[in-house]
Amino acid sequence: MKNGKLQVAVIGCGGIANQKHFPALKSQEDKCDIVAFCDTLKERAEKAAEEFGAEGAKVYEDYKQLLQDPEIDVVHVCTPNVAHCPITVAAFEAGKHVLCEKPMAASTEDAQKMMDAWKKSGKQFTIGYQNRFRTDAQALKRACVEGKLGEVYFAKAHAVRRRAVPTWGVFPDKSKQGGGPLIDIGTHALDITLWCMDNYKPVSVMGSVFEKLGHLPEATEGNMFGPWDPETYEVEDSAFGFVKMENGATIFLESAWALNVKDSREAATTLCGTKAGAEMVGGMSQEGYDLVFNETTGGILTEEHISDTGAIAFFEGANGGNDATKECKQWLEAILNNTESLVKPEQAFVVTQILDAIYKSAAEGKEIKLN
Ligand SMILES: NC(=O)c1ccc[n+]([C@@H]2O[C@H](COP(=O)([O-])OP(=O)(O)OC[C@H]3O[C@@H](n4cnc5c(N)ncnc54)[C@H](O)[C@@H]3O)[C@@H](O)[C@H]2O)c1
Repeated sequence: MKNGKLQVAVIGCGGIANQKHFPALKSQEDKCDIVAFCDTLKERAEKAAEEFGAEGAKVYEDYKQLLQDPEIDVVHVCTPNVAHCPITVAAFEAGKHVLCEKPMAASTEDAQKMMDAWKKSGKQFTIGYQNRFRTDAQALKRACVEGKLGEVYFAKAHAVRRRAVPTWGVFPDKSKQGGGPLIDIGTHALDITLWCMDNYKPVSVMGSVFEKLGHLPEATEGNMFGPWDPETYEVEDSAFGFVKMENGATIFLESAWALNVKDSREAATTLCGTKAGAEMVGGMSQEGYDLVFNETTGGILTEEHISDTGAIAFFEGANGGNDATKECKQWLEAILNNTESLVKPEQAFVVTQILDAIYKSAAEGKEIKLN
């Protein structure tokens, strides 16, 4: 802490750091300073330090050197997935609070190491599931807590893009990311679904993983981010999971970067309960959002649409900023006030456990049992 403010370091200064973390941290200047930047590509860290850094901000190529600085209180881990575990574990060992980008890790084993290091450290830990801070997600969670849906026994987690294979960074590189759309965007949809159901006890998982379009040159046409390189594409292009929970509730998870469907829907959920159902029709891939409650009112089947409250650019208004700003504010306040962050590590761990089991089930051609 310096002048009552948390001293924050960001490791990995690529896409998500620039689009989400730096602007969000800058919006919380009353609570923090960004004092250290690290990237194996040094020029990225230098550029970020110039644009977003506090006076005298330091630049590193090696995260181990950065972690030796006792002035740093908080570390944001924004590297490719496989690097989440070693960096997070080292940060806890160095006595820092950690916000790690989603997913928690590329495997359950790595996630377990992170959980163990966190518990030993006594520090705060959260994962970057900013979709929970969207207005529709907050409204749906509240409806679930208040019992509007009754018992939720079936859900669908939606993470389907028709053609939006990422073409920057290392997304199609299996050794750096651990997988494709399932681990990349399936993770957000599953997180929202489990959180709304408040059900973190999976018992079995069946999965199917497809590598059908990623290697086809003709499939790259019409990709939102421009054509990808089918020669270097190493991960799945779609994956599906069927998850059974201890109380019998069932979740179907669909994920794709490329799939021959009509509509895209991402970071969204459909929940079916004994009293009512709810569906996020929009989600992360849409402008605004549309949240629908399906129920019976006065003896007829009804659809209740919750509309966007709207926003005016650069004016936070009643909404209190975008999801990234809200996530950052809640996280910093949790550290400063010693309260819990909204995204709890135990919850993010179960998301990684299920995603890992879907890959395993597909590889082994059988159902995977979870404890
Ligand atoms: N929350 C979200 O919605 C969201 C969206 C996109 C990405 N992400 C996550 O953010 C992470 C990064 O994704 P991205 O799109 O920013 O990728 P990116 O490739 O644009 O950026 C990653 C950066 O990390 C650097 N890096 C790699 N290994 C490093 C190391 N050992 N030490 C320091 N720097 C290192 C790279 O040079 C690169 O600049 C991924 O885990 C991804 O899943 C989250």
